[in-house]
Amino acid sequence: MPDFDTSVPHIARVYDYWLSGKDNFAADRDLGERTLAAYPNLVFSVRANRAFLARTVRFLAAEAGIRQFLDIGTGIPTASNTHQVAQRAAPQCRIVYVDNDPIVLLHARALLKSKPEGACAYLDADLRDPDAILAGAADTLDFSKPVAVMLIAVMHFLGDDAEASKIVNRLMEACAPGSFVAISHAASDIDAEQMAEMIRCLNQSGAEHMTIRDRAGVTRLFDALELVEPGVIRAAEWRPDSGLEAASPAACWGGVARKP
Ligand SMILES: C[S@@+](CC[C@H](N)C(=O)[O-])C[C@H]1O[C@@H](n2cnc3c(N)ncnc32)[C@H](O)[C@@H]1O
Repeated sequence: MPDFDTSVPHIARVYDYWLSGKDNFAADRDLGERTLAAYPNLVFSVRANRAFLARTVRFLAAEAGIRQFLDIGTGIPTASNTHQVAQRAAPQCRIVYVDNDPIVLLHARALLKSKPEGACAYLDADLRDPDAILAGAADTLDFSKPVAVMLIAVMHFLGDDAEASKIVNRLMEACAPGSFVAISHAASDIDAEQMAEMIRCLNQSGAEHMTIRDRAGVTRLFDALELVEPGVIRAAEWRPDSGLEAASPAACWGGVARKP
């Protein structure tokens, strides 16, 4: 069993708490409550983020013809995980999940229940080392064919803008033309004061440090790629299924881009 410290809140478990999951400990729940007090709309943000993940995977598999997914910063399994949404659209989809938190590794079995026509794999690796991710993922994915790189609510754990862009570029450089990247990112310019207070609270006690970006900063992560419509927008408004979904007061930017 992987070794982890339950007395320090970890984002994978705090996020699980925000999503009403059961895989969290007292320290995670305490920080979860304090951050919700600082920004009550946070609950809408995390739900809107999960819904963005499901809609983008569905778009990529059902409309863009993508059959391979590299999901980095997977999180603890919950409803509508990438392989479930993708393989519902096309059972032959192949998915590689990546996370650096041992608790996600502990739950990886739930992420590996692939349909027989496809494949799922899990890598215990760090986004800061894209070459290790690419090398490990190559056992399951064929990088000579298009891949969708999913960076959902994970880029805000990279504080340095240049490093963040370099990592996206390195991942996309390894992917064939016609590949996609989907990014969602906590916003610094929506409900700015409450978000700043929530992040201060999170960074004071959490194991991971979070850096929020504004819309322009998130858009820069897609440089050199072709943004698909409607570009970088509030995640809830990215091709929403209903007006109600679009109206969610979520402080999260999202976008999908194609490698020409
Ligand atoms: C907020 S959760 C998002 C989970 C999922 N992508 C979603 O949006 O529902 C962030 C996840 O990213 C992982 N993570 C944070 N920094 C990471 C890094 N440097 N490398 C790999 N995973 C990381 C955390 O462990 C956590 O599981």
